[in-house]
Amino acid sequence: MKILIFYVLVLTLLYSVRNSHGARILASIFSPSYSHQVTFRPLWKELAKRGHEIILLTTDPMEDPELTNVKEIDLKESYAVMDQYGASELVSNQQGKSYRELFSAYIFALSRTADWQLSHPEVQQLIRNTSEHFDLLMVEMMFPTHLAFVDRFSVPFIGLCSLDAVPRVHKSIGNFMHPIIYPDYLFPFTKNLTFVQRVISFIVTAILDIHSYFMYSTEDETVTKHFGSNIRPLKEIEKDTSMLFINVNPIFHQLRPMGPNTIQIGGGTHLRQAQPLPQDIEEFLDTAKTGVIYFSLGTNVKASLISDELRNVILNTFANLPYKILWKFEQDLPGTPDNVKIMKWVPQQDLLQHPNVVLFITQCGLQSMEESIFNHVPMVGMPFYGDQSRNAKIMEENGLGLVVDRKNLIKDDFYRAIMEVINKPIYREKVEEIAILTNDVEMTGLEKAVWWTEYTIRTRGAKHLRNPMVDLPFYKVYLLDVLGFLLSIVLISLYVVRKIVKILLKVLCSKTHEKKKIE
Ligand SMILES: *[C@@H]1O[C@H](CO)[C@@H](O)[C@H](O)[C@H]1NC(C)=O
Ligand SMILES: *[C@@H]1O[C@H](CO)[C@@H](O)[C@H](O)[C@H]1NC(C)=O
Repeated sequence: MKILIFYVLVLTLLYSVRNSHGARILASIFSPSYSHQVTFRPLWKELAKRGHEIILLTTDPMEDPELTNVKEIDLKESYAVMDQYGASELVSNQQGKSYRELFSAYIFALSRTADWQLSHPEVQQLIRNTSEHFDLLMVEMMFPTHLAFVDRFSVPFIGLCSLDAVPRVHKSIGNFMHPIIYPDYLFPFTKNLTFVQRVISFIVTAILDIHSYFMYSTEDETVTKHFGSNIRPLKEIEKDTSMLFINVNPIFHQLRPMGPNTIQIGGGTHLRQAQPLPQDIEEFLDTAKTGVIYFSLGTNVKASLISDELRNVILNTFANLPYKILWKFEQDLPGTPDNVKIMKWVPQQDLLQHPNVVLFITQCGLQSMEESIFNHVPMVGMPFYGDQSRNAKIMEENGLGLVVDRKNLIKDDFYRAIMEVINKPIYREKVEEIAILTNDVEMTGLEKAVWWTEYTIRTRGAKHLRNPMVDLPFYKVYLLDVLGFLLSIVLISLYVVRKIVKILLKVLCSKTHEKKKIE
């Protein structure tokens, strides 16, 4: 009898584990940011190659005719929506604005963009199509609104982060949180916080937590507007995250304990095979006897929007350098020194492979830094916003280069930093060391991402890996009730003992008093 039950169980299990071949995947990368989009391109390509069908909501379509299994919904206009709310200006030139103002304005721009994306006709068609179904949703976690697709299609979902996850996201999957061991990546400090930093980190983390409640309620309203009212609150949906893919590698990032359903896919996942350089760039690099410095502030920080002062400091410094400089800048810049070449766009990955590139001056976006590290180019960091200060800090701590402060930059400091990183071999050696360590892994980030995606499809959401921490309220996790209970017992005991001692003393006193009277 027992054996029979066993077989029935095994058979049911086998049937319930669905084959992962040819699954239908809905994928959504919300962020209007090139680096967020390219991080996952190799994943879409690989999944398509393995026979899965993907509907991809993206702000930067690949438009690759060979990818017949990928249907892209083009949300390019999201960039314009972000700019309506001043996003480029916010990240490029933050002078005179407080951190709080910048943060709120940026969140507001994201919120309006999410709203616009969901009202896009093709997205609306998808939401309304009653014969549509999916086996899996893969959704960027940076902003929660698109999580509504989870309930709309009743699918398990994988959360994606093109950087490390913010604490809110780590928390939603049950990873351990701690404001001073793992401070938010918006802070420029990582290890060995001073007392003041610890207090700041604690308070700001609490404020961000409170802020996120308001953000969720705004986004819940947006969801109701586009999906109707039968979608759970986003905060609740978020707790059902089956897997979380974070673009983190433990060599470079802060170590932290994580559940088995958080997969670290970092370490150059977005890197591709080198391709030949355009002729003009090739010539510029080949003819540089002393070497070339490559300077780019990435795709979100618009070099044309940085302050005039900073631009002048940069140009004056460059004019004095004994190197050629290739500056990725979106517009013509009159009066540039002879050794500086401005280009609107460059194939960065291919350029960094050229042996004459001696330095990369970068805003410290994660993808840029990875490209630099894997091509063994040391860096000078000039962080602007988001995780960039944190990345810059880690870069400097690891000896991969130096960081300058763009807000108080003077020519001499900038010049010194550049010359030091180029001329001291220790920086390049450290970069090589980190690159070798990062590549020494059992599976590449991409292989891990593909394997765990198919695992999630096969197991219909890997519910057995749900972290118990997800379902515990705050006070239970931090033992507040238990500690409170024990503390009150101690206090009550102390109180009782004190009372008893008092009574005893009183009795004793009155006894001696009486004795004295009798005497
Ligand atoms: C609705 O979804 C089905 C199944 O994927 C698809 O065949 C059909 O073309 C869709 N209809 C519209 C109007 O998009
Ligand atoms: C942090 O403190 C530890 C122990 O005191 C020390 O070994 C380590 O070098 C420090 N790290 C940094 C980045 O200062």
